[in-house]
Amino acid sequence: MVIDLLAQPDGAAVRQLEPYHRVPEGDLRERIGAARERLGDSLLVLGHHYQKDEVIEFADLRGDSLKLSQLAAESRACRHVIFCGVHFMAETADMLTADDVEVILPDMAAGCSMADMADIDQVEACWEELGEVVDTSEITPVTYINSTAALKAFCGRHGGVVCTSGNAERVLRWAFGQRKRVLFFPDQHLGRNTAKAMGVPLSRMKVWDPALPLGGNNEGELAETTVYLWKGWCSVHQMFKPEHIDLFRGRDPEMKILVHPECPMEVVDRADIIGSTERIINTVAAAPAGSKWAIGTELHLVNRLKQEHPEQTIHFLSPMVCMCATMYRIDLPHLCWAMENLVDGVVVNRIKVDGETTEKGLLALQRMLDLS
Ligand code: 13P
Ligand code: SF4
Repeated sequence: MVIDLLAQPDGAAVRQLEPYHRVPEGDLRERIGAARERLGDSLLVLGHHYQKDEVIEFADLRGDSLKLSQLAAESRACRHVIFCGVHFMAETADMLTADDVEVILPDMAAGCSMADMADIDQVEACWEELGEVVDTSEITPVTYINSTAALKAFCGRHGGVVCTSGNAERVLRWAFGQRKRVLFFPDQHLGRNTAKAMGVPLSRMKVWDPALPLGGNNEGELAETTVYLWKGWCSVHQMFKPEHIDLFRGRDPEMKILVHPECPMEVVDRADIIGSTERIINTVAAAPAGSKWAIGTELHLVNRLKQEHPEQTIHFLSPMVCMCATMYRIDLPHLCWAMENLVDGVVVNRIKVDGETTEKGLLALQRMLDLS
């Protein structure tokens, strides 16, 4: 076995990633198991439901974004967290864990294309532009957890809050209790689907396109708006279409449609049940044998549900392959590389949010956790 080691300035040696890609899968599993044992309680491995089977198998705890945030906030014994998920999740875990806990993302390229659709400069510019038309003290900013730490800090600074797919309605209710308008970013679909379910008419929601002056609206429209929806979306969930639902229902009227709220409104409106990944899992787990589902969320999760519930009939809602390419980047070579470095006392790919951003971001995150 060849392991490339590079000297770090402080004398510690860092194992290089590249050779790990040539290690057979069985050996990687064995080595991850051995490293995991050596690290004991000092390490917590968190895994999101969209991770591949061979990766999620090594997670100590798994969950949706809300559960993973709660687990990070509750973690006490560990010194390190390896986050099998995407960048915003690792950032959130860093903010919610104690200062001396180091959070590691096995592959730095594991981002979220939706989170990348709103950057802090664009959101600051939007706030300023909105301020020329309406009084921003009437607006609660709400960021979906799929966003950078800087946006969470923005919400913290402006009396706003974070939400997840698992608590969006509860959070929006709180937001409307504070002020009469909401700026929701970055996922227009979660914002629209949730506000609509709460009774906000579509005519009172306007999409804010950061590339256009006034977000592509006129002053009169903005003055009459209750929910400003950032023009962001999930590339995975936008692949589900109403005609996919019609196809399944046409074939079998007993088929139940279960979708994630990041799907477009036309899909959510036709579905039987809408929920976060955790809710999707719990719904299927609680259903009687013989239940029939067409599920609209990431492919790895749906395939896992199929394996775990052979007593039910489970279909993937789309004829296309909808998988999250960035979640998929976390694989056994990266996991083994991060863990074996940790055994050597070397922290690779640390995700560290600066103190000021953490302080303000925590205000918005804590409001969410209190509401949940
Ligand atoms: P959940 O919080 O429902 O797991 O969703 C996270 C996510 O990124 C879905 O695309
Ligand atoms: Fe982001 Fe969509 Fe992937 Fe979720 S599924 S992490 S929203 S790109």
